[in-house]
Amino acid sequence: MSTIDLQALIPNNVDLADNRQLQRALEKWQPAFLNWWDEMGPSDFRANDVYLRTAVGVDAQGWASYGYTPMPDYRWGIFLADKEEGRKIGFGDFRGQDVWQDVPGEFRSTFRRLIVTQGDTEPASVEQQRLLGHTAPSLYDLRNLFQVNVEEGRHLWAMVYLLHAYFGRDGREEAEALLERHSGDADRPRILGTFNEPMDNWLSFFMFTYFTDRDGKFQLKSFAESAFDPLARTTRFMLTEEAHHMFVGETGVGRVIKRTLEVMKELDTDDTAALRRAGVVDLPTLQKYLNYWFTSSLDLFGSEASSNAASYFANGIKGRPDEARFADHAEVDTHMVIQVPDGQGGVRDESIAVRNGINEVTRLEYVKDCNVGVTRWNMAIKRAGVDFELKLPSTRFRRQVGLWAGVPTNPAGQPISQAEFDAHRDQWLPTEADQTFVKSLMQRVTEPGRMAAWIAPPDRGINAQPVAYEYVRL
Ligand SMILES: [Fe+2]
Ligand SMILES: [Fe+2]
Repeated sequence: MSTIDLQALIPNNVDLADNRQLQRALEKWQPAFLNWWDEMGPSDFRANDVYLRTAVGVDAQGWASYGYTPMPDYRWGIFLADKEEGRKIGFGDFRGQDVWQDVPGEFRSTFRRLIVTQGDTEPASVEQQRLLGHTAPSLYDLRNLFQVNVEEGRHLWAMVYLLHAYFGRDGREEAEALLERHSGDADRPRILGTFNEPMDNWLSFFMFTYFTDRDGKFQLKSFAESAFDPLARTTRFMLTEEAHHMFVGETGVGRVIKRTLEVMKELDTDDTAALRRAGVVDLPTLQKYLNYWFTSSLDLFGSEASSNAASYFANGIKGRPDEARFADHAEVDTHMVIQVPDGQGGVRDESIAVRNGINEVTRLEYVKDCNVGVTRWNMAIKRAGVDFELKLPSTRFRRQVGLWAGVPTNPAGQPISQAEFDAHRDQWLPTEADQTFVKSLMQRVTEPGRMAAWIAPPDRGINAQPVAYEYVRL
């Protein structure tokens, strides 16, 4: 295992000290990053000690160390998973050949664009979550928010390292631009839609970490297969950090449900108004938030049929998640069926080349993974004896990217008229009144171990600490 030099100005396990030019360039970017963190990162809480985990190695067992750190002192740095000697390209036209330690000239602009797009999402989510610290339902949750935030900051470092190390001047300029675009900015927004959505409540935060960070997981898994080895190694390590973000989402939503079920039992009611008066999120509202963030995240995978995706796959640039699990790693002249609008208000099957359908293949894997948590949430609902089932809507519902963009359907994916969609919209997606209600619940709780009334405590604390641990010293 390679060791991380934590004492260096920029902690790293890539022997940065041996490459003075790169080191100098990154040391120039570092103050710009810290400045961005100061201006666009978590509002306030700069001086507070937060019980954070920091990477100290890159192996599966011992990579994390826990301790109190004020966020601006977090050791952001460059950590790549260890090199796998003799690694070969696993898919596409070059499969079986040695992986690349540098970017081939003909794929340079493609790699740069993909790395920039991935990199852009990392600081974007920090910007979206900027104000949430002020309404955290507990110190435990506040700490988790900040853990996610500092790690997204580190993911930005991961992409900026690649840009600086492999893309020369263009890369350095892109690294600067990553700090100049901002989530929701009218003039210079973030690149992808979901990352410009406002986030002013913790229910959205939990849905986002469940659904949108999971999109991140699948993008990273696809990059982890790349023939460009430094990209594969960077993303492999990012995946270990990412797992905690989805844990925050799954347990967060699960705790909201648990609390709602408790109150439903106490009051013996499923009446929305009564539950809202009691200060918990009713399950139909939860379903609407789920619909919103799940469908927004579906768009991040791109169009169902894509010649770009085909060329990424053919050229070893970006693979499928867990490529080894697929039987055919070349997909020459293989076909798959996708569902497309038939132009007459219906759905029609269409056969496309698998290479063109890689986005859809990845999206469907993502949906499967999303369903794991939904099943778990439903088990809790069932155990409570409540007749309600949360459900992922169809991948055709409320799409803004791809073949179903702008085609109105119901949550089951059946095409409907725009008028019908409009008539049902308030049943399917959060209304202004829903948002006002959810926001009204967002009251800050700062006493260790105490939770806001709309969320149950977690089953256990972080790193075997008690739930009532002082996770953030306010
Ligand atoms: Fe990330
Ligand atoms: Fe994440």
